[in-house]
Amino acid sequence: QFEMSLRPQKLSQYIGQHKVKENLNIFIEAAKLRQESLDHVLLYGPPGLGKTTLASIISNEMDVNIRLTSGPAIERPGDLAAIVSSLQPGDVLFIDEIHRLPRSIEEVLYPAMEDFCLDIVVGKGPEARSIRLDLPPFTLVGATTRAGALSAPLRDRFGVLLRLEYYDEEALEEIVLRSSELFNVEIERLAAREIARRSRGTPRIANRLLKRVRDYAQVIGDGKISLAIANQALELLQVDSRGLDYIDHKLIISMIERFKGGPVGLDTLAASIGEERLTIEDVYEPFLMQIGFIQRTPRGRVASQLAYEHFGYTYPEQI
Ligand code: ADE
Repeated sequence: QFEMSLRPQKLSQYIGQHKVKENLNIFIEAAKLRQESLDHVLLYGPPGLGKTTLASIISNEMDVNIRLTSGPAIERPGDLAAIVSSLQPGDVLFIDEIHRLPRSIEEVLYPAMEDFCLDIVVGKGPEARSIRLDLPPFTLVGATTRAGALSAPLRDRFGVLLRLEYYDEEALEEIVLRSSELFNVEIERLAAREIARRSRGTPRIANRLLKRVRDYAQVIGDGKISLAIANQALELLQVDSRGLDYIDHKLIISMIERFKGGPVGLDTLAASIGEERLTIEDVYEPFLMQIGFIQRTPRGRVASQLAYEHFGYTYPEQI
């Protein structure tokens, strides 16, 4: 509940992602002018960049309700039927991790998205027949960390595709300052900047670090977040100058020490540090690639010179 209060309610309060905002604003205005429901929206990009927040902003701006669910939570066609048949006209249905929706559900979803109807099979064997159920028009907002993992027919049924990018430091600083104000905590601009710098381009991480730094300021300091306090707290949290944490360290150092910097396959790497392949692929690797620490090659992952130098290793001569 408190967590929700950090989230902006309106598009005008949403910081960063300028292209996404500009586009979305036009599509929302147009749908409202025509008094139609908004076309289905697919939001994709790394975790923590505000996909759920945007879905809830869409529902606020369209002045409709939002239903939140996720791909893995919808197991049987009846689960989906129960949800969509309870929607009011124009409502937003948010499906997080939509790439994890079972294939059998996808097929029920197609006619729901395209024609706002459901074909439900009732009965078994020779008695089985299909009933068509009309639905109110609604807006499906799907979110995924990997647009490539969506089946083509599902992807093609979204009219609006929006890709979220990592935030730059200015935007994250603004978010940290805004959240501090909502927390009612005093913070130096340079401290906000430092938290922003170490947040891996991700508002969710910025807000989490801000909370922990606030704890530190309250217990160790006088409650105010100065640059010195922020630096001390971040050091204690083992978040380095680029925002890399314990697992990033383990990952890169393992690549360097055990695999001579690569190329090393993702599964081998995952096993060597005892992490899930999917976590590395969806959470850690995208940012490490974005800052140029890791490269993906056909033969596996490679640590770059930047990575070697950041962790205090000498980059080997390339033959
Ligand atoms: N809090 C988290 N993400 C935000 C964003 N993009 N804009 C404003 N506040 C936020």
